[in-house]
Amino acid sequence: MNFDEVDASVRQALDEQKLYYKCRAQDYDINLATIVDSSFDPDIPGGLYSGDRGSQPKGTGLTSQTSQEIDALANQLAMEIDQVLTVFDQVQLGEHVLELASGTGNWTQRIVKRVDRVTAIESSVEMVAVAIAKLGEESNKVRFVIKDIFDSEMDATYDSVVFGFWISHVPRNRMAHFCSMVSKWLKPGGQLFFIDDKAPMEVASMVQDESSQIDRYELRDTAQGGNYRIIKNYYTSNVLEKLFSDQGMAISVSSTNKFFQYATGFKPNP
Ligand SMILES: C[S@@+](CC[C@H](N)C(=O)[O-])C[C@H]1O[C@@H](n2cnc3c(N)ncnc32)[C@H](O)[C@@H]1O
Repeated sequence: MNFDEVDASVRQALDEQKLYYKCRAQDYDINLATIVDSSFDPDIPGGLYSGDRGSQPKGTGLTSQTSQEIDALANQLAMEIDQVLTVFDQVQLGEHVLELASGTGNWTQRIVKRVDRVTAIESSVEMVAVAIAKLGEESNKVRFVIKDIFDSEMDATYDSVVFGFWISHVPRNRMAHFCSMVSKWLKPGGQLFFIDDKAPMEVASMVQDESSQIDRYELRDTAQGGNYRIIKNYYTSNVLEKLFSDQGMAISVSSTNKFFQYATGFKPNP
């Protein structure tokens, strides 16, 4: 297969995952409740982890678990969400944040309380509609750009760039380009924060080959019955740190015990 063929297949996958999330707009936020069932503690800011794992609880291994095990996982999840939020709340977001793949606004809601303006790029108008409804009056501080991130030419630079559960959907052969876009969009001194799923145990062994250009795909279904092939890559912290460092940024990638991988970083002043 030559590069054009590889890229055609990647383009197709990117289109399919846009379509998948378009169909998921209405149920995206209730997914976590589905995963951990009614024992889920409603105080957990579950919206920050809507469970990027499809509309069914498959793949979580939770369906055959006892309610005690489910409780323990819900507690673990709550603890890890707190851990990540403590880090996120210390990031100096500045005045104007660029959020990528903002979805139903789970991170936008949190960002908007701390800054003057947010610009949010999101491909699905359906996702944006849910976000606007959730944000209420605070949506006045957000400019939504309904576009494919890879086709976005922004006319400004930002104090910080934030994205949740997006980097795992970036194809391997687009990562260098994606990191260069993030670096270009950041002002010197600007801050970066992102979070994603940590590789589950069963795929952890597939994450080790750092030279691989082969994307990992998942077949996801939707409540409406559609099946979509989406990209779900798990990058090691070393790979992520190097990719951003190659674009002139300094980032540090950490993981919680079970659920999350997250990064903070910055673009140094010249
Ligand atoms: C896993 S969701 C994350 C949503 C949100 N950041 C969160 O943490 O809840 C991924 C989001 O990326 C959006 N998306 C997918 N492909 C995109 C693309 N090429 N350009 C812009 N947004 C895209 C989807 O519509 C979806 O809202």
